[in-house]
Amino acid sequence: MIVRPSSGLRGEVPISGAKNSVLKLMAATLLAPGESVLHNVPAISDVGIMAELLRAMGAEVTLGPGTARIVVPEVCGLEAPYELVERMRASIVVLGPLLGRFGRARVSLPGGDDLGPRPIDMHLSGLQKLGACFESEHGYIEARAEMLRGAEVLLEYPSVGATENLLMAAVLAKGRTLIENAAREPEISDLCDMLTAMGARIEGAGSSTIEVEGVEGLSPVTHSVVPDRIEAATYLAAVGVAGGELTLRGARADHMEMLIEKLRAMGMTISDTGEGLWAMAPETLRSVDVVTLPYPGVATDYKPFLVAMLSVAEGVGIVTENIFQGGRFGYIDELRRMRADIRTQGHHAVVRGTPALSGARVRARDIRAGAALVVAGLRAEGETRVVGVSHIDRGYDGLVPKLAAVGADVSRRQT
Ligand code: EPU
Repeated sequence: MIVRPSSGLRGEVPISGAKNSVLKLMAATLLAPGESVLHNVPAISDVGIMAELLRAMGAEVTLGPGTARIVVPEVCGLEAPYELVERMRASIVVLGPLLGRFGRARVSLPGGDDLGPRPIDMHLSGLQKLGACFESEHGYIEARAEMLRGAEVLLEYPSVGATENLLMAAVLAKGRTLIENAAREPEISDLCDMLTAMGARIEGAGSSTIEVEGVEGLSPVTHSVVPDRIEAATYLAAVGVAGGELTLRGARADHMEMLIEKLRAMGMTISDTGEGLWAMAPETLRSVDVVTLPYPGVATDYKPFLVAMLSVAEGVGIVTENIFQGGRFGYIDELRRMRADIRTQGHHAVVRGTPALSGARVRARDIRAGAALVVAGLRAEGETRVVGVSHIDRGYDGLVPKLAAVGADVSRRQT
């Protein structure tokens, strides 16, 4: 992706369905035989990988513009192969539904990734409380359960993935499951809404305590994916860095309250239009400190955008990462190549703002980091060339056309 300095973005950006919701909703369709239909499905490559995974299990998956039609058979294949889990670690969320419906699953263990070590111990210990047994062989987890029974599970940390796997197993377990210290992200509530529409009995979605009363069986469903708050944050950062004003159609202010507070403290004007968000940038952003926390705190996924904004703000901002070990700071070396003044120590980064960055060739190492480099390029003299954009394609539906439509000088070159 080639980015040149751009000022005064203006217009409307449609916000797509959330990557971190749709992948789990697709996995949840495995819980009921028959045809489920998802709407507001983003055109991103991770959806293609999840479609391949479901096909490997015997489902028919048809992806159309904004939709996914998934026909789940009476008897599914029970394996998530290495080739797919390696490409997308979120594949691990098929474990809960397969155990819930068939009492068995064979899922490749995800390895590490650019965000550092990411164990799945809480997924497994939670499912063990429900009666599942695990063995690890040849890089795969072999999971079995004679019968899943509801139980009380206290999560050591409100893990998004562990909460989702537990929910999808518990809906078909016998009796009542209580998930305490559950993740509260809007994507968890979206999953609970869809499971409830399928016939599940769930209370407390969006709170730290979720109660599930297991049912005998679930039915297929039609459901629309919640808007992507992280995509919305990307365009808020873009207008913050480049200047101008944007309307983000479909963005949900109630899903991003803490971020909106931060951006207002940086000098942005943001209002909820009822159908989305309207945002206007100040002449120069002001620096603030940022601490990432589980929802409703400032999400770790917003952090690369905030670092890009702080790089061109007035003053010094201290950014503290609390979710991923090792700080999830890999992209900062790339921003430094663009003359950003950032120092890191452990899980802290100190960002000293400069009026403008300097365009350079930089590499996208993960989805959000890649998008943050594109955003930074909007305020960098000369040309910024972001390579490794397949990472960006994993999670963004049309980043380049959406930015170009509001006046950014961004294009894409085939290599
Ligand atoms: N963790 C454990 N053990 C576990 C589970 C998690 O130690 O059993 C640790 C992880 O290693 C990490 C922290 O807990 O340090 C948070 O992990 P969590 O389970 O909450 O995250 P996740 O489900 O693996 C999702 C998103 C991430 C997002 C995080 C945090 C998806 C597909 N991914 O990951 O999104 O950063 O929640 O909010 O939903 C992205 O979109 O690019 C992305 C990485």
